[in-house]
Amino acid sequence: MIRVLFVCLGNICRSPMAEAVFRHLVEEVGLAHRFEVDSAGTSGWHVGEPPCGGTLRVLRREGIALGRKLARQISSLELDQWDYVIAMDRENLAALRRLDRRGASTTRYHLLMEFAPDLGYRDVPDPYYEGNFDLVYRLVRAGCEGLLEHIRRQEGLA
Ligand code: 4NP
Repeated sequence: MIRVLFVCLGNICRSPMAEAVFRHLVEEVGLAHRFEVDSAGTSGWHVGEPPCGGTLRVLRREGIALGRKLARQISSLELDQWDYVIAMDRENLAALRRLDRRGASTTRYHLLMEFAPDLGYRDVPDPYYEGNFDLVYRLVRAGCEGLLEHIRRQEGLA
């Protein structure tokens, strides 16, 4: 099993979207049985809440299933259970690194936009106040496509 965790601040907008998009891509190429995919927030502000309206709207428009997702906060204890921990922005990446007290396993942490460098973004912008869900979807989609390619190369998946 290849274990992939997407992380944002609240786990209601960006990381649930990335989780759904990545799972959709993995299913499209027939690799669902090889992956475990989840998402979490670095904050506990929205624990137990469903994804935000903008994320639900974009996913519905794109025909991407979300499943039953309720926000949860990441725990330091789970960090080394994930092969790829993908942060939506630099702030959350820094929070993850602070949480990983051993600091020994930093290679598992990435920014999602590392995998779509041509778009010229380092962070997926926080849509909570801005409401820029179309941009967020474009970035998340491209990042997830690049991430899947990266993992397939890395793990030798045809
Ligand atoms: P997310 O968006 O990190 O993409 O889930 C946010 C959700 C909530 C807040 C900020 C960003 N908040 O400030 O409560």
